[in-house]
Amino acid sequence: MTATLVDRLGRQVRDLRISVTDRCNFRCVYCMPKTVFGRDYPFLQRAELLSFEEIARIARLFVAQGVRKIRLTGGEPLLRRDIERLIGLLAAIPGLELTLTTNGSLLPQRARSLRDAGLQRVTVSLDALDDDVFKRMNDVDFPVAQVLAGIAAAEAAGLTPVKVNTVLKRSVNENQILPLARHFRGSGHVLRFIEYMDVGSSNGWRMEDVVPSGEVVRRIGEVFPLEPIDPNYPGEVAERWRYVDGGGEVGVISSVTQAFCSSCTRIRLSTEGKLYTCLFAQEGHDLRQLLREDRTDEEIAAAIGTLWSARGDRYSEIRTAATAAARKIEMSYIGG
Ligand code: GTP
Ligand code: 5AD
Ligand code: SF4
Ligand code: SF4
Repeated sequence: MTATLVDRLGRQVRDLRISVTDRCNFRCVYCMPKTVFGRDYPFLQRAELLSFEEIARIARLFVAQGVRKIRLTGGEPLLRRDIERLIGLLAAIPGLELTLTTNGSLLPQRARSLRDAGLQRVTVSLDALDDDVFKRMNDVDFPVAQVLAGIAAAEAAGLTPVKVNTVLKRSVNENQILPLARHFRGSGHVLRFIEYMDVGSSNGWRMEDVVPSGEVVRRIGEVFPLEPIDPNYPGEVAERWRYVDGGGEVGVISSVTQAFCSSCTRIRLSTEGKLYTCLFAQEGHDLRQLLREDRTDEEIAAAIGTLWSARGDRYSEIRTAATAAARKIEMSYIGG
């Protein structure tokens, strides 16, 4: 029997986002700036990571409490060795949608094995079409052609519909809005523009660097007329727009200018086994210790239930200059 967990604001737990590594082969300027994430950065060590069996056990307990979608994240999740084995364990849990967010760099060689392991679809981050702008965003000289090849490989492997996430930073890649919209129109892939957020404490976020979604929709709509469409499911993060001429859809994720906390059904599990009830949380709740103390499933499920019942997070609705400056967990640690 599935119990229904409800938090203090009446929200159920539906989506579990699992970060499987805090490492990444990119150094996106808005996420892992090189000045902070350099050679000496204290990434997690192997013994600290949850094992695949531990992750799968937690996943099963969450599914029993109402979770219906699991998304694997990182850092870059494809850097976690043998992630296909974890995907196999999770794919065996009935009643679950299983997906993954990646920077796409390794998809050309991995899309097929991910699909074969049981992954259903992928979301690929892509911040520019222009190679120079793309390299300025990833800051490791990674060529855009390889990520485009990764998207094609995902499509060929059946990891569809492929979603494409673009984070916009004022004056850095805003000139890519139209080229990206034009490129993905009619492709069957769903492009979504994300407002740059004040996640973590390293990216030097400033409100002036945010390109509001309203502006994105206006700029695209001036060239390719758009009309709004209904969400795919209640609480969907992206607001959907359809090209009036039948060129498919494009989305915007307005976590800064139009918060969506009231319908937030997400919980996040870090690589080392801490649960976070909000992307902007300052503290996690350690499950790894419970797992390694040989607690029963009932005891761990009760701990999860207590945590979710006490949840009152709505960070994006109450963001101020002071909260934006507070010390928070990093995006590369919790996976967005
Ligand atoms: P699908 O609709 O299934 O593709 O899922 P999704 O849109 O939740 O997936 P995705 O991971 O691609 O989310 C897109 C982006 O929205 C994330 O990478 C974050 O930047 C942002 N986002 C997702 N969830 C939250 C959230 O709970 N709070 C905030 N503030 N931002 C979020
Ligand atoms: N603001 C908005 N989106 C971000 N992402 C990473 N850092 C930020 C940020 N500060 C995005 C990535 C990826 C997803 C996991 O989150 O580009 O698409
Ligand atoms: Fe890596 Fe994604 Fe962060 Fe870029 S946004 S540094 S690809 S984890
Ligand atoms: Fe959910 Fe926190 Fe994001 Fe609001 S800010 S939508 S509560 S994760």
